[in-house]
Amino acid sequence: MVYRVLHYGEEPLRNESQPVEKIDNDIRRLVEDMFETMYASNGVGLAAPQIGKNIRLAIIDTGENPLVFINPEIVKSSGKEICDEGCLSFPGLSEKVQRATRVVARATNLEGQKFEIEAEGLLARAIQHELDHLDGVLFIDRISKARRLQIKHDLELIQEGHSLLEDDEESES
Ligand code: NI
Repeated sequence: MVYRVLHYGEEPLRNESQPVEKIDNDIRRLVEDMFETMYASNGVGLAAPQIGKNIRLAIIDTGENPLVFINPEIVKSSGKEICDEGCLSFPGLSEKVQRATRVVARATNLEGQKFEIEAEGLLARAIQHELDHLDGVLFIDRISKARRLQIKHDLELIQEGHSLLEDDEESES
């Protein structure tokens, strides 16, 4: 089942999410639906709050293999890198965001096993982005105040439920 991805302005995106207590059939089903939802929107990551569930669960697929992060935490990060970043909750918006270049994260997988992953590049960025979602932090919180003011109108459009992509297409035709 493909969920509707919440957009900027919807409350669950700003909530602190609660740890997953038990990996049961509901969670397994939810993860399956999250992958379906993410692939349907061509995303590389999706956090549970983005479909209105405030639990500490996120998925990532940067094209190598699908990863499930249950109750994840970043235990080490190093380096700094500024790259373009987007978010399925901000359709059409892309902003330069500074993140750590490398991270080590710990989480539990769908089989209930704890794992540690060392990542860099896009995967490291995706891990930081998705983990932020679990704390109610959005990528626009990590750009400058001045830049946020510049894109105020775009943010308002998204908040009203528009996609910047659709608007661009409309203005071209
Ligand atoms: Ni996001």
